[in-house]
Amino acid sequence: MCGIVGYVGEQDATSILLAGLKKLEYRGYDSAGIALYNGLEITLDKTVGKLSELEKLVSNNPPKGNIGIAHTRWATHGKPSSPNSHPHSCCCGDVVVVHNGIIENYVKLKEELKEKGHQFSSATDTEVIPHLIDEYYEGDIKDAVRKAVARLKGAYALGVLSLQEPDRLIAVRQDSPLVIGLNGNENFLASDIPAVLDHTDEVYILDDGEMAEITDKQVEIFNVETAQLIDKDIFKVDWDPGMAEKSGFDHFMLKEIHEQPETIRKSIAGRLNETDIKFDEVNLSQEEIKSYSRIYVVACGTAYHSGLVAKYAIEDLAKIPVEVDVASEFRYRNPLIDENTLVIVVSQSGETADTLAALREAKANGARALALVNTVGSTIAREADDVIYIHAGPEIAVASTKAYIGMLSCFYMLAIYLARAKNKLNDQASAKLIKALSKLPEQVGKIIKEDTDKIKQLAKNYAKQEHAFFIGRKIDYSVALEGSLKLKEISYIHSEAYPAGELKHGTLALIEEGIPVIALATQTSVLDKTLSNVKEVKARGGVVTGVVFVGQEEKEQFDYQIEVPKTEDILSTILTAIPLQLLSYYIAVERGCDVDQPRNLAKSVTVE
Ligand code: AGP
Repeated sequence: MCGIVGYVGEQDATSILLAGLKKLEYRGYDSAGIALYNGLEITLDKTVGKLSELEKLVSNNPPKGNIGIAHTRWATHGKPSSPNSHPHSCCCGDVVVVHNGIIENYVKLKEELKEKGHQFSSATDTEVIPHLIDEYYEGDIKDAVRKAVARLKGAYALGVLSLQEPDRLIAVRQDSPLVIGLNGNENFLASDIPAVLDHTDEVYILDDGEMAEITDKQVEIFNVETAQLIDKDIFKVDWDPGMAEKSGFDHFMLKEIHEQPETIRKSIAGRLNETDIKFDEVNLSQEEIKSYSRIYVVACGTAYHSGLVAKYAIEDLAKIPVEVDVASEFRYRNPLIDENTLVIVVSQSGETADTLAALREAKANGARALALVNTVGSTIAREADDVIYIHAGPEIAVASTKAYIGMLSCFYMLAIYLARAKNKLNDQASAKLIKALSKLPEQVGKIIKEDTDKIKQLAKNYAKQEHAFFIGRKIDYSVALEGSLKLKEISYIHSEAYPAGELKHGTLALIEEGIPVIALATQTSVLDKTLSNVKEVKARGGVVTGVVFVGQEEKEQFDYQIEVPKTEDILSTILTAIPLQLLSYYIAVERGCDVDQPRNLAKSVTVE
């Protein structure tokens, strides 16, 4: 999942394109490149490594021009290297292309083009595109692009610049996000809104099978297949550029952890009353809710982990069976779906390819599809039958934190909403949960304020370790999984999470002197059981940090203890996740890791 950006206007395109790439770097940082038309020719500057390497490369002699395209890469086909960096061009350099996605039939196309004499200089799938466009060019770049993309199989968001028609850019979208930024006498193309937000809050969000012809004066949207002109609505963005800045924090991840009290407030705003929850954007009637005999929650990574919490909450409160599926499995396993099935897809970016495909699979099989999404106007949000927006604002750090907490908050509200519709939760019980829910922002703020120093110290102890384990029972286990993922993805420590009672069935063999184990112990009904599992670990030399509710006097059970404010057992996840996020963050900092841009990862996974 790469980031592409394009500009045409009167300003110096280099600085605008580099600034746009900076806002997209969370999408991939294996290599970067820029191509501009300088009035005579198209210049190409690209290098392996982070955007800062490209900035260094062009700093002495910045390319000149008012029109250009640029790219930051997450390698799929061809290892990170300068030849494999984008933009890619055809043999004569007349057509240059930036691409986000995967061309599945590139090998066959490459063979065909080689037979026609085309020379290739990279191992990428993308390079076939400029050669194809060049092959079809007969004086109309838009037409040549249409013919070329008709030959492509796969996912692609493209930006195209040609020497023959250097006053315009062509943009094309198929199964990969693309927006067009509008700003009077200058226009932009980009993989995501933050890249254009410094210049405009008005965008066209392209749909699959659409292309745009962009000059400094106008933007026209066409259907790729029919070349029909499309009258598209302008989308007004309600995020301000500052939201995508670090605001004095060392990393976006730490800033986003600190934003979580606000995230919860925004997610519950206008949706709670004393005993009930209302979701303006959900049109599910009481009859429909009562008709659901099965719910699937489908997602990837951290979003999938929020689904595990949803299972506990919805089954416990609304008594509807919930199955939680990893999207890349769900879409190929022929899930049992019928008209009494509600499928809930969850996604921060709203663009994750497997989750989007699972949504389409669910709808194709007659299920009602509800989406929990953070990114407004994203593909999953627009294709779902109903959307619950998380309202966490832009999340830049690759490791998701505030979006996860927003997802949990929305799932608790949804569980109460479904339970009330099914008369499974009386006024008193519902009011008690809603009261506890509305206290969570302040309680999260308290943990961040009071526990950070203790956790920083703990991180120093754990930072030297190469293995770690997280354990918990019931809803604590689902947070243990998320805590383990956070530690893995930003500190590169090998970490696993287990239901606490499962350890003795094998994994306990891995526990030896000094191994860090984080034990979540907030579920009163199984507390004794969890504590006996902690004893098993300690008996083998494990160093155990307990995450418990304040006032739970089991200090002697743990080597270290992190206390979170008391809330309803079922709501504990929103509190216990915070210390785990902070612990992973400070361990990664202690190990000198690139916290916001961990190796081999990217923020939004738009390919299979
Ligand atoms: C989480 O920290 C990761 N960035 C990753 O697992 C992420 O949750 C997953 O890729 C799903 O992304 P989405 O929520 O944007 O669909």
